[in-house]
Amino acid sequence: MLPAYLPNPVAALFGGGTPIDLGRNFSDGKRIFGDGKTFRGLIIGILAGIGIGLVQIQVVKAFGWENLPEHTYMSITLLATGALLGDLCKSFFKRRLGKERGAKWPVADMYDLVAGALLMVLIFDSAWLFANMTLLIFILILILTPILHRAVNIIGYHFRVKEVPW
Ligand code: CTP
Ligand code: MG
Repeated sequence: MLPAYLPNPVAALFGGGTPIDLGRNFSDGKRIFGDGKTFRGLIIGILAGIGIGLVQIQVVKAFGWENLPEHTYMSITLLATGALLGDLCKSFFKRRLGKERGAKWPVADMYDLVAGALLMVLIFDSAWLFANMTLLIFILILILTPILHRAVNIIGYHFRVKEVPW
C-alpha cells in the first residue's frame, strides 16, 4: 500500500499553487474542489507514489522476498493515481456538503485514498488485485489506515506542514 499511502503526505509537503478547479465554483455556488487540491500536489504526489513503488519492485527483485506482493508498473501507477483521485473525489463531495477546506470529515478523510486506490486497481487490473489481496490484508489495511493517517497528520501539524492535526 506504500504507493497509495505516500502521495497524500507528499502532496501536503510540496503542494500549492494553481488549484485543480482553477478557483471555479460548482452549480451550487461553492468551490468544485477547493484550494487544498492543486496540480502540483497531484502530480508530485503521484510521482512520489510511483517512485516508492519502483523502489519496492527493486527491493523484491534484489532480495527475492516472495512473501511481499509482486508489484508491477501498472499496480504502482494505479495505486498512486487512485489514492489522490479518491482524495479529489472526497473533496468534491465535502464541498457539496458545505464543509470548508481542511474541515473534519472523519471516515471519508481517512479512507478516501484506500477507496480510490483499490477501486482503480479493481477497474484496471483486477487480476493483480485478486492475486494479491486477501481478507487478512484488507482488514489490516482498514485497521492501519486510520492509525497511520492520524499519526502522519499530527506530525505534519507539528512541523507546520498541515494547518490542522487531521
Ligand atoms: N494537497 C495539494 N494537492 C492535492 C492534495 C493535497 O496541494 N491534490 C495539499 C494541500 O496543500 C492540502 C494538503 O495537501 O491543504 C493536505 O491535503 P488534504 O488534507 O487532503 O486537504 P485539505 O486542505 O484538508 O482539503 P479538503 O478539505 O478538500 O480535504
Ligand atoms: Mg484534510
